[in-house]
Amino acid sequence: MKILFVSAEVYPYSKVGGLGDVAGALPGALAKTGIEIVVVTPAYGTIDRQSHNLESSPYRFSVQIENETVDCGISRWISPGHSNHRVYFIENEQYFGSRRIYENKSGKPYEDNDKRFLLLSRASLEICSVLKWTPDLIHCHDNHTALIPVYLKNQSSDYSQFLNTKTLLTLHNIAYQGIVSMEHRGIYNLPDELFNPTAPLEWYGKINPLKAGIIFADAVSTVSPTHAKEIMTDEVLSAGLKSVIYENQQHVFGILNGVDYSEWNPATDIFISKQYSSGSLGDKRINKVALLDETGLDNGLLDKPLIGMVSRLVEQKGIPVLLEALDRIMAQDVGLIILGSGDESYQQELRKFAKLYAKRLKIDFSYNDPLSHKIMAGCDIFLMPSRYEPCGITQMVSLKYGTVPVVHKTGGLADTILDWDGKRGNGFLFGDYSADYLVKSISQAISIYYKKKEWQQIILNGMKADFSWKQSAGQYLALYKQLIKE
Ligand code: ADP
Ligand code: GLC
Repeated sequence: MKILFVSAEVYPYSKVGGLGDVAGALPGALAKTGIEIVVVTPAYGTIDRQSHNLESSPYRFSVQIENETVDCGISRWISPGHSNHRVYFIENEQYFGSRRIYENKSGKPYEDNDKRFLLLSRASLEICSVLKWTPDLIHCHDNHTALIPVYLKNQSSDYSQFLNTKTLLTLHNIAYQGIVSMEHRGIYNLPDELFNPTAPLEWYGKINPLKAGIIFADAVSTVSPTHAKEIMTDEVLSAGLKSVIYENQQHVFGILNGVDYSEWNPATDIFISKQYSSGSLGDKRINKVALLDETGLDNGLLDKPLIGMVSRLVEQKGIPVLLEALDRIMAQDVGLIILGSGDESYQQELRKFAKLYAKRLKIDFSYNDPLSHKIMAGCDIFLMPSRYEPCGITQMVSLKYGTVPVVHKTGGLADTILDWDGKRGNGFLFGDYSADYLVKSISQAISIYYKKKEWQQIILNGMKADFSWKQSAGQYLALYKQLIKE
């Protein structure tokens, strides 16, 4: 079986959030089952080609976008010892090589992102043609690549190579739809009728690539079973696309993400002060000492609950309820470390609190991979108050690190965290998305934190959980097979 896997982010080359994690780890897990998998992604200027051993190739191709001929090259990475897993990078200085992923250094999205990801989508098809390689299925991810099924179904004469190729579109975050003004329609070179009112690409007078992708893909999946139900039944959680999802419901699936335990395992983690496992939990304390030291927080917090958060600072992640609850959280004699980059307005609000609770609250607005590992290892509680969460990877990571999650019961959080009932459970869930319920849930966790035996049991329950990619890869493989057979 041959799979083309197209994503705007692929860890370790590029990553903003979980999409990068998934596109970094899932292809490797799939390749282990013996299938052939080619990943295509842009060669952003931020990628360190040397340290990642990227090879250049003689292949060149071009994509016509409106009146512009965009010339591209290809670099590649071939998995050592597994030539059935390759990553191809689209080289184009103007659109990718001189840029970061979605935004410039000051956090402003590039104005031509529609063209950039249109280029990614169409270039991935051109690469197949240049390599004379025809996939059985193309696995697309999010709005950036949602147009691939639209091209295959509406321009089949240009893409006759893919006549028997199926498409799967995975929605990692349905709220990001790639919507642009109708004035941009010229760049797509797609039939006019697709842009008419209520037609697949039209959305309240604008162009919505994700909507069209959902309609034309052979199947759609999202990253947890609960979120698959949510987007079919809830107008808000589907970001307005409920009826489009509902109409395609026979082809909508929910497959939980996994965790890459070669990156995220306290027993082998190279970023933390002292490696540990469930058999040497005492060593987790050494990481707490180091984290308090590194963040400059009060040493007195060593025997008090230390709460951690690693998150994009956006509304989805529950930052508004966190801000509303912060005084009441800090009133419970805890420490709190937040690592997150994102909205400037949230940063300003958080800065005020950081001044107020200087000895117990540390906020780092950078994107910092090593610190995210240290927070996982050094904290006692991991907080994830997301308003909605298609899957969420960090809560599964926190379980592995024995850092007890406190989360809002939504999407993938509801599928992975089981509320502690005195015997069973691996964390704490709050049902209502509100500051009151968030505070209540944290208070509950804190009261159990001081009951050492119970706390240890929750930690051990969490560390036992296995969310490795093997299981999810098996489910994707079964879905690929089913679609290819249809
Ligand atoms: P989302 O994709 O919605 O951001 P996930 O939980 O699926 O949420 O994935 C987030 C990923 O991004 C995790 O790997 C997390 O560790 C990482 N991450 C988020 N913010 C930061 C940051 N400021 N520094 C380092 N890693 C971060
Ligand atoms: C998205 C979602 C997150 C999910 C990730 C990877 O960014 O917000 O819940 O884990 O994609 O699928």
